[in-house]
Amino acid sequence: MLKDGHGRIVNYLRISLTERCNFRCQYCMPEKPFSWVPKENLLSFEELFKFVKVAIDEGITKIRLTGGEPTLRADLDKFIKMICDYKPSIDLAMTTNGYLLSEIAKDLKKAGLKRLNISLDSLNPKIAKLIAGKDVLENVLKGIEASLAVGLKVKLNMVPLLGVNDREIVDILEFAKERGVQVRFIEYMENVHAHSNLKGMNGREILERIKEKYEIEKIGRKGSSPAFLYKLKGSDYIFGLIDPHKHDFCESCNRIRLTAEGYLIPCLYFDEAMSIKEAVKQGEIDKAVEILKEVLANKPKENRWGYATSNRAFYETGG
Ligand code: GTP
Ligand code: 5AD
Ligand code: SF4
Repeated sequence: MLKDGHGRIVNYLRISLTERCNFRCQYCMPEKPFSWVPKENLLSFEELFKFVKVAIDEGITKIRLTGGEPTLRADLDKFIKMICDYKPSIDLAMTTNGYLLSEIAKDLKKAGLKRLNISLDSLNPKIAKLIAGKDVLENVLKGIEASLAVGLKVKLNMVPLLGVNDREIVDILEFAKERGVQVRFIEYMENVHAHSNLKGMNGREILERIKEKYEIEKIGRKGSSPAFLYKLKGSDYIFGLIDPHKHDFCESCNRIRLTAEGYLIPCLYFDEAMSIKEAVKQGEIDKAVEILKEVLANKPKENRWGYATSNRAFYETGG
């Protein structure tokens, strides 16, 4: 079992497979062009798998593949299969923008993927284009339907932005409800990489929009999830609110992040990180485990929102 310096059990590994993305979401990516880390700097799937195996042996029971956009990595289904063959009971999920899913959902499911969290910020093609920087909606919707059709468990993520998609909160809630999938509304997390003119909405404001049409009941947090769950009164439909500014979910944080370049990051909003790249490349897997334990020993008690700005981009850490 893996424990951090505050006694929290860490059993959830988020692996960002690439920082590259086929979208340029305003809340994630800079306005100006920039260059990616060269592909040679990334750990290969074979190298990542060496680490994944020991991480599972040490107590990781849940893995989420993130990015950038994880579906941009070739042979993604093979990597998923490697993990599932090693530990069939692993809770293996992926967070994606959904753009390529209609082509690959079937292969991902066949390889062993269980769950998908898909970003859906607008149901209006023009607004979706404004947010993502290109015309994305049709493909994303096809991707959602294809994933449901092959039996993947789907959740949707929406980041409401004032003056951009804030009028669509109820539309997205209803879209999700009709399909029986959970939507989570995520407060915009300020970061130095995002477009500078963005104005997010706080949890209370998001709930106000929903309450204009529906009565809601509090449910609470489930396990170590960052989402606080609510129910629409008179129905079984449950949705979530992710409110990172409050950081009350940090108390039960169970996660650690690994980037495509091999950095182990103890907290999303925290600059310090240690690299396992050399250890893995040299085949010194015990050393990689030592580094993992050192990073966990130094995992902060809570994220540093409000009193420091992290320089690391969410497209690198995987949100
Ligand atoms: P499940 O509970 O397994 O469905 O997934 P998840 O909520 O961990 O995954 P997802 O990638 O959909 O995360 C949703 C969003 O929650 C992320 O994009 C972040 O914005 C936010 N989030 C997740 N983990 C953390 C965290 O450790 N700290 C902070 N501040 N935000 C987080
Ligand atoms: N604020 C809130 N959520 C963000 N995400 C990415 N950047 C931000 C941000 N600045 C979320 C997206 C996506 C997931 C990968 O991370 O909604 O669902
Ligand atoms: Fe890509 Fe996700 Fe960032 Fe959008 S939020 S640019 S989909 S990594």
